[in-house]
Amino acid sequence: MSERETWATRTGFIFAAVGSAVGLGNIWRFPFAVGEGGGAAFLLVYLLFIAIIGFPAILVEFVIGRRTNLNPVGALQSLATGPWRYIGYLFLATGFAIMAYYSVVAGWFVRYFVIGITDGYTVADPDSAAALFGSVSTGMDALLYHIVFMAAVIGVVAVGIRDGIEKAVKFMVPAIIILLVVLAAYGATLSGAGEAYAYYLSPDFGVIAAEWQTLLPLAAGQAFFTLSLGMGVMITYASYLGEDRNLVKDALTIIGFDTGIAVLVGFAVFPIIITGAGVEAAGEETVNAVFVSLAAAFSDITGGRILGLLFFGTVALAALSSAISILEVVVSYIIDQFDVDRRPATAVAGSGIFLLGIPVTQDLIFLDLLDGFVNDFLLVLGALLLVLLVGWVIPDAGRDELAKGITDIGKRGDIWLWLVRIPLVVVLVVTLALGIEGYHEFLTGPFSEWLAS
Ligand code: TRP
Repeated sequence: MSERETWATRTGFIFAAVGSAVGLGNIWRFPFAVGEGGGAAFLLVYLLFIAIIGFPAILVEFVIGRRTNLNPVGALQSLATGPWRYIGYLFLATGFAIMAYYSVVAGWFVRYFVIGITDGYTVADPDSAAALFGSVSTGMDALLYHIVFMAAVIGVVAVGIRDGIEKAVKFMVPAIIILLVVLAAYGATLSGAGEAYAYYLSPDFGVIAAEWQTLLPLAAGQAFFTLSLGMGVMITYASYLGEDRNLVKDALTIIGFDTGIAVLVGFAVFPIIITGAGVEAAGEETVNAVFVSLAAAFSDITGGRILGLLFFGTVALAALSSAISILEVVVSYIIDQFDVDRRPATAVAGSGIFLLGIPVTQDLIFLDLLDGFVNDFLLVLGALLLVLLVGWVIPDAGRDELAKGITDIGKRGDIWLWLVRIPLVVVLVVTLALGIEGYHEFLTGPFSEWLAS
């Protein structure tokens, strides 16, 4: 087998992991999760979950990856015994499911970017903004941009770790941050800014108490999705790491960037939505939130065309750096396990994912079907299995690996292990149960109505 690649520079790994974490989850999914979860109440629970479950959970994936230097399937086969050895296959299935719809949604952003170039945004009233979204999100156009986006992802991954992923993300991450700051500054000048900040920042504890059953899985699912946890991305990226890295420090850096960017997106998006359509609109928005409200806003304001181009282009880049991490999991498995070259491995995996995404381009019900299955079930299950494995089955290996690269870990390794063993397991089990219940309701409700119609 050819020698396994590693990151070329110390920051390469950080950039790649941040690039993976920051994506549609932060910019498309986060605002509508905030909307569904009642604004600031959601934000509070989400931030809490990032700290108490996201942080220990990302370390779980890091130690597995760096310990084995293998793709997730191989990593678990070499670390574990018995049924634990097969968890990696679950990740491959999850990767396929995420990528299939992720690429379609990313394609919408590419399309909106192209609209900015060719026509500009001319949908100032909400109805025509919604009509535009309808024509972009389903049918031939959606299929075409799904092809365009998948081709870009395949192109980057086929080139490899150093020349493809590492170079691409070093440019994308700073670009994303700069553009969001510009948009947030613009948002601050709008008349609805004050109302938007109140909606976004002052939590109603009554909402948390009354709706924890929906808030909990929503916030936990979002925490896992946004940190790219539960399907082996962080295992894969850490597998290209040397033993001198301080994993705790790297985890904090990555989480800091991801969370900061999500919060920043709120500052950019909510003033625009609320100025345009009122505070009720923020709560009603769903998958089309950023498309309809923002395209309308960009049609309305001076300089909107440039801002819109910047915004949709940025999101497309952010989505690209995330999508490459998902495809990389599948590709690294094919390369390691079957000893084939990177290019054919990428072509095969990418084409399979492309086919799976085709139904999503034709009817949005398939988006809910896949997104719910991934976030309510697959990611939580994947994370739970990893946490149980590292916390209870192979704790010594985990603690030992965490200590490498840290000068004096002291008691922190044990504290981490206990966080993993109990709070993390409890939150994940509760989330999984609520998530399954919610998804079951979707299947027996909206989905069976759709089947019957
Ligand atoms: N974290 C990315 C986002 O927020 C999406 C993503 C990339 C992801 N890789 C993942 C989600 C792995 C779950 C698992 O857009």
